[in-house]
Amino acid sequence: MIKNICCIGAGYVGGPTMTVMAYKCPEIKITVVDLNKKRIEAWNSSNPKNIPVFEPGLADIVMKTRGKNLFFSTDVETAIDQAEMIFMSVNTPTKEYGKGKGMAADLKYIELCARQIAAISKSDKIVVEKSTLPVRTAEAIRSILDNTGNGVKFQILSNPEFLAEGTAINDLLNPDRVLIGGLQTPEGKAAIEELTAIYAHWIPRERILHTNVWSSELSKLTANAFLAQRISSINSLSALCEKTEADVTEISKAIGSDSRIGSKFLTASVGFGGSCFQKDVLNLVYICKSFGLEEVAEYWDQVIKMNDYQKQRFADNIITTLYNTVSGKKIAFLGWAFKKDTNDTRETPAMYVADILTKDLANISVYDPKVSETQVFTDMAHVNGRTDEENKKQISVYNDPYEACKNAHAIAILTEWDMFKTLDWKKIHDNMLKPAFMFDGRNILDKKQMENLGFKFKSIGK
Ligand code: NAD
Ligand code: UGA
Repeated sequence: MIKNICCIGAGYVGGPTMTVMAYKCPEIKITVVDLNKKRIEAWNSSNPKNIPVFEPGLADIVMKTRGKNLFFSTDVETAIDQAEMIFMSVNTPTKEYGKGKGMAADLKYIELCARQIAAISKSDKIVVEKSTLPVRTAEAIRSILDNTGNGVKFQILSNPEFLAEGTAINDLLNPDRVLIGGLQTPEGKAAIEELTAIYAHWIPRERILHTNVWSSELSKLTANAFLAQRISSINSLSALCEKTEADVTEISKAIGSDSRIGSKFLTASVGFGGSCFQKDVLNLVYICKSFGLEEVAEYWDQVIKMNDYQKQRFADNIITTLYNTVSGKKIAFLGWAFKKDTNDTRETPAMYVADILTKDLANISVYDPKVSETQVFTDMAHVNGRTDEENKKQISVYNDPYEACKNAHAIAILTEWDMFKTLDWKKIHDNMLKPAFMFDGRNILDKKQMENLGFKFKSIGK
């Protein structure tokens, strides 16, 4: 029975995952470690609002478990030394240099983790890949761990995480499935059973699937590729809808009612964002290419191309509609996060749309209920390489949606926050320049209602 767990990486996955595990397994001590001192301080904050990951329900559970059997620390060495099971939950971003630049997953953080575990461990341990990794990464980890020469035995499991941000707590409490991949040897099977027993505290055993390591690693990339593919598929049709007066929402409903297709992930949008879809599909493309599977690589690459096209199309539509020039015009962005109910902005479509519009000399005023001004400028620097001072000449961030929209020529909805549905749209319209344009990139507002208020209204796929 595992009594002591360490999780390396206190990010969007490590933090919530371990919080729920600690909550459901009070007899297990869980220490989440990170090199980022500020992040750990925030996880240890007495004010729930300072917890670094905003996720509905998360702060409550952190407050219930932290200091009892859940700990956040920067002391990576002690936590590794004491643990019987170690989760690797570090970031695996797209590589920004060298071989595979712009496509392959950067595994430097994972390798560093494995080397730390190898150097510190004095007793046998189960090492769990929680990060999303290319198929056959466990082989490299095994090679690092098995060559330490200190006689410690490691079992490596793949246990990818399927939570989505904004619904992480519910996804962790009630997952469709938990996937555990391990070696099919007696020791491998015993390790699989140890991890299964932990999840079985709250998840029915029939939902805990066992596979070999490689299937588990590849299932995670495949799941994200399939989900992203559905969004790109419906987004591609949204372009055709706009030319033909078909309505993409009606199409989603019509095709989603076919039980073979299913209704989820058919919401047309300005494009998918987030830290993983693009990264994981690109990684899949890279892996296929490296095995010489050019046609397979091309097939999946199209999912990314369609997503880039959708963001560009949305921005182009704004420019064309505003009489082919946005120069000096104020465009209010409602929403900056990549989806509602999260403060995460990684790969958010908002920053790409802002980049296109500011290059066309527009002024952008941003309001997001959970994203800070600092984050908006960090994102813009990432996308256009400009300093904050340069970006501040064209972009301003507001704490109030009504202020952000005041005297604007147009509003663009970039995130589907529920609060946007109940704003006082009449008041907003009254305070805008006329004609007042609205571009709903998330299809959350009613076209007729908005047109009745006087808006010139456009939404995706209608
Ligand atoms: P993140 O960037 O939020 O967190 C990763 C953390 O790991 C960072 O805080 C970083 O400082 C820390 N770290 C890196 N190297 C370290 C080391 N050697 N020692 C200690 N700490 C170290 O990333 P995330 O969003 O939590 O994603 C983590 C992994 O989970 C990725 O592989 C991602 O693809 C996968 N994933 C993410 C999600 C999601 O919704 N974000 C969902 C499923 C899977
Ligand atoms: C996604 C997957 O849903 C998770 O299962 C997976 O664990 C995670 O990636 C990961 O590996 O990181 P996440 O990116 O957090 O989760 O959020 P999603 O709900 O999948 O949304 C991703 C993007 O697609 C968002 O920008 C969202 O607005 C967009 N989207 C989603 C659409 O445009 N249309 C849809 O119908 C659904």
